Amino acid sequence: MKAKTLILATLLLSSTLTAEQTNIKQEGIGYIKMLGSTLKTQLKSQMQSDKSGLSAMGFCSSSADTITDEVNKKLPANAKVRRIALKSRNEANQPDALDQKVMNEYQASIEAKTFLPSDIKVVVDGDTTRVYKPLITKGVCLKCHGTNMSKEIQSQIDTHYPKDKAFGFVEGSLRGVIVAEIKK
Ligand code: HEC
Repeated sequence: MKAKTLILATLLLSSTLTAEQTNIKQEGIGYIKMLGSTLKTQLKSQMQSDKSGLSAMGFCSSSADTITDEVNKKLPANAKVRRIALKSRNEANQPDALDQKVMNEYQASIEAKTFLPSDIKVVVDGDTTRVYKPLITKGVCLKCHGTNMSKEIQSQIDTHYPKDKAFGFVEGSLRGVIVAEIKK
């Protein structure tokens, strides 16, 4: 079934989008921003109030899921938005085969140095269109997703996410994506 989805799904280039698909792309970008900007603003203010990152860590582990649910409740019934990664911290943020394919493409373009941060990918999968925005690892992300995390942060991660895979990232690498799915 998964393999079938992969074959049927069509990754569209911006230049080949129909007017309808361009509208869906814009709609998806709006939903991605609703989730992305809420998380970003909160993370920023938490990091500013406590530079160790510990309070931000508490925020991410207690509220990232809740914020995602809240944003989804505001969307129309035919739409949803998720935050996922190839290597995730929260097991709930698992990609499916199509997500993996798109993330692998982003990674390949980063490696080939042809990547553009504005590269929003639109994928038509049956009656659903997915809109993907890449999340690139920045310096600030390394406090919790890098290699040498502080003891305090590492112990929080060990406590809350015993199966954590979201570490060892470097600046400029693909941390994950936000994907909006819109059904016809
Ligand atoms: C203060 C610690 C902290 C910082 C800084 C941080 N994160 Fe995270 N991140 C977390 C935690 C904790 C989770 C798991 C949240 C959950 O339970 O849903 C997470 C989850 C994620 C996820 C969802 C996929 C997964 O691994 O579960 C993405 C994507 C992500 N972070 C990207 C980033 C990016 C990009 C930055 C920098 C702009 C960043 N993070 C900075 C702690 C942090």
